[in-house]
Amino acid sequence: MRVVKTIPDLRGARAALGQSVGVVLTMGALHEGHLALVRAARQDHDHVLATIFVNPTQFAPGEDLSKYPRPLERDLDLLRAAGVDVVFTPSPEVMYPPGFQTHVTVECVTEGLEGAARPGHFQGVVTIVAKFFNLTQPTTTYFGQKDAQQVVVIRQMVRDLNFPLTIAVIPTEREADGLAMSSRNVYLTTEQRQNATSLHRALQAAGEAYTAGECDPQGLRAAALAVLADCGGEVEYVSLNDPRTLAEVDQPTESPLLMSMVVRYGKTRLLDNGLLPASLNTREGLTATLGGE
Ligand code: PAF
Repeated sequence: MRVVKTIPDLRGARAALGQSVGVVLTMGALHEGHLALVRAARQDHDHVLATIFVNPTQFAPGEDLSKYPRPLERDLDLLRAAGVDVVFTPSPEVMYPPGFQTHVTVECVTEGLEGAARPGHFQGVVTIVAKFFNLTQPTTTYFGQKDAQQVVVIRQMVRDLNFPLTIAVIPTEREADGLAMSSRNVYLTTEQRQNATSLHRALQAAGEAYTAGECDPQGLRAAALAVLADCGGEVEYVSLNDPRTLAEVDQPTESPLLMSMVVRYGKTRLLDNGLLPASLNTREGLTATLGGE
């Protein structure tokens, strides 16, 4: 596995990989969720390129960039074992040299949900992702369902700016008790960690209500909130949205829905989501619903 840190070295390493490359973008602190993206990329392509970059511009005011975990050697070992060919680990100065002044903004789909809670976050994400797409030239790029709004926002940018690539959306990896894997889980106390299974149980309750015929967003939210009543944290939102436009849905509908929720445990915000019907939460269903054309 080649580890490159500069843009000329990345361009050289990328050219040597040939035409068909799967690309996985990360901020490091890797867990099974990231490795599932790498496995999917490995299955689809002869070569896999990954990036590790803690992107300063996507941290909203008050979010602690300096405390973000950076276990670089461990991450590189995991990527090596997973069969990655090239890893790009640039410094902030390489990605944002002095004089940098271009930003990419996606409009409507960034307004609600995480966009409302984290001002400036998506502009930071989209700008760095556009740069990485230009530099790494993916055939396919892999994103996790866990950040469903991020997928929709990136899909919009890919469509609007004509990036010649395909987006694959991989289902959320979960711990045995259902907690969605996240780099933030390490911040939870033992008691918060136990309570945090509520998010998955709330999604399951909504899924069961949907299967039983509930198609009114009020009823689906109520099913989730009934479980979250005992979650031991502060429920920031439970939202039902059109998975393509992210417009909030408040009337009964036969169309698929994206249910998203955030629960705050102390300073840690835990995020989870699922498509309804729950049968859409497969690579094929997620890619077609959130990441497709
Ligand atoms: O999902 C992430 O880890 C980040 O938002 C990404 C896509 C690597 C951009 O920094």
